[in-house]
Amino acid sequence: MFYRNFIMGLTHCDRLRLTVEMHGTYQSQITGGSDMTQTQEKPFRRLIGVFPKKYLLLTGVFISIVYATITVTFGYLLKVLIDAAAEGDRGPFFLVLQVSIGLLIANALLIYFRTRTLGGYTENGLALLRAQYSERITYLTFDTVQNIHSGELLSRGTNDMNRIRNFTFNVIPKLIEAPLTALLALLVLLYLSWQLTLFAFVMIPVLIIGSTLLIKPIGPISKKVQEKLGHINTVVTDFIKGVEVSKAYNLETRLEDKNTRFVEESVSSGKQLALRRGVLGAFSSGFSIIPFITTFVFGGYLVIEGRMTLGSLLAFINLLNFLTWPLTQMSTLIGDAKRDLASANRVFEIIDQPLERSDGDDFPIDTTQPVVAFKDVSFSYPGDQNPVIKQLNFSIKHGESVAFVGPSGGGKSTVTKLLMGYYDTYEGAINVFGHDLRSWSLKALREKLALVSQDTFLFPESIHENIQNGLVEADESMVMAAAKKANAHDFIMAFNDGYQTSLNELGNSLSGGQKQRLSIARAIIKNAPILLLDEATSALDTESEAIIQETLDTLLKDKTSIIIAHRLSTIKNVHKIFVIASGAIVESGTHDTLLAQNGVYTRLYLKQSQLEEGDAHDEIIDF
Ligand SMILES: Nc1ncnc2c1ncn2[C@@H]1O[C@H](COP(=O)(O)OP(=O)(O)O)[C@@H](O)[C@H]1O
Ligand SMILES: [Mg+2]
Repeated sequence: MFYRNFIMGLTHCDRLRLTVEMHGTYQSQITGGSDMTQTQEKPFRRLIGVFPKKYLLLTGVFISIVYATITVTFGYLLKVLIDAAAEGDRGPFFLVLQVSIGLLIANALLIYFRTRTLGGYTENGLALLRAQYSERITYLTFDTVQNIHSGELLSRGTNDMNRIRNFTFNVIPKLIEAPLTALLALLVLLYLSWQLTLFAFVMIPVLIIGSTLLIKPIGPISKKVQEKLGHINTVVTDFIKGVEVSKAYNLETRLEDKNTRFVEESVSSGKQLALRRGVLGAFSSGFSIIPFITTFVFGGYLVIEGRMTLGSLLAFINLLNFLTWPLTQMSTLIGDAKRDLASANRVFEIIDQPLERSDGDDFPIDTTQPVVAFKDVSFSYPGDQNPVIKQLNFSIKHGESVAFVGPSGGGKSTVTKLLMGYYDTYEGAINVFGHDLRSWSLKALREKLALVSQDTFLFPESIHENIQNGLVEADESMVMAAAKKANAHDFIMAFNDGYQTSLNELGNSLSGGQKQRLSIARAIIKNAPILLLDEATSALDTESEAIIQETLDTLLKDKTSIIIAHRLSTIKNVHKIFVIASGAIVESGTHDTLLAQNGVYTRLYLKQSQLEEGDAHDEIIDF
């Protein structure tokens, strides 16, 4: 016991060094949050409030208290043991030995039960928090998800959750145990010798002040090293993400040079850091042993004078560890607690984000009403002053297909987003089948709409599941029928696993056209009364576009549809074309009447025809 603790005293300098390192990295860990509004309630109270089974936490805390008491009792028993041995008292010696063994076993059991109770408390609470978190994420508003980086949502759901685990499992019991151990140790020290305690107390501030002074100069350098390492990571990440561009533009050498520079800089800061740490380590190892040596010397004097027993002195030195160690530990613990509670706060921030509304009705489809009608709709994105949609008016009858064309950034996609009910903050009125969009339930509304957009997103699931996402209850034959209509069946069957092929395993080997056909199959199977195509073919080459256009034409029959088109040749047959620029309709009519007007549409059409004659299909054409 004594030996172990004396070793603890000797290795105290190592612990100091550990504290130094933790302080160094502390700052970099706490940063990286977002500028979202702070959650009002204090994270600690909230966390304790959210986690169920508080009796487990209380048991864990109680066990920590007992544990701390036993630890200090051990320290005192050492005195009795040594004094008995020195005086040759067999009776007390063996009695204390037995008690010590008993306490040792008790301590082992306590550790086991504390791990179980706090582990149970933590995992239980985390499971609940995780469930709340993922439910929130699923029903967050479109706007929130757009504004929070997906990596941020992920890291809050993983890293921050782990920090919370650390808090309830490790930090809370230690925060109880450390100061309590120190307090109990102090009481026993005073009991053993108040003179020696006073003497040691003069030395302890020296130790603590010394250790804080030693830590200080490490912080800034360590931060610098972290920053440099961060730069290297960015270069590497950029390279991986932009591998195609880097290769195509021969940027490898440039990136490598950049990388080398950052590596060199970080190595030199790292060397500087190592040097300082070395010097400080040597210094602090000598420094931290001084109080122990001097106390030992003064205590030795008291023993010689007969004012203290040898057992008391050895127990004293031993217990001194239990006083200094928790005290130096506290700054690290408080740092950890702050960091972990900041994590809890970051999780709560997400949980406090507004959810999409869940009210509203499912109205029957009334084909005598306009399917979609915008009346004086104006809209600007949240947090943005510029109106993106200005006093927009249009209406679409049942079975009609209309097209929106116009310069990019004109507001076409925004119209579809408003129609999907992603934003609630527009002015004016949007009616769907004669009912205000705001009185529709979002679920029912979205069931009426099938969206195919330019950036097709497919899930890392099988092809079958991806198509089935359009209609969860669809069976195999329905999935296959949809794929056939979307001209996707043949290429799907060319894979070994056919419809069971996992898109995750295929990686990026599907072509844009193939992905688009799968997403069209997903829209076909949904069989919604309104079809929204937002530049569904603009990312494709002419050949795929021709195939998909053919597919879309069959799909569009007898459906009400809004087609946002990039190539005017694809919308010649729609009932009505709206030319949208800067959030307003500047021209409208059929292809023929618009050409007759000889306005914006005509100019655009002529420009595109010339380009197509010149076989420059893939040119991005703007007004
Ligand atoms: N989430 C957003 N937040 C703020 N502004 C946006 C957002 N999405 C689009 N915008 C802006 O709204 C305008 C219209 O965009 P959009 O409807 O996508 O145009 P289009 O589809 O016609 O190319 C653009 O100026 C664009 O920058
Ligand atoms: Mg768009």
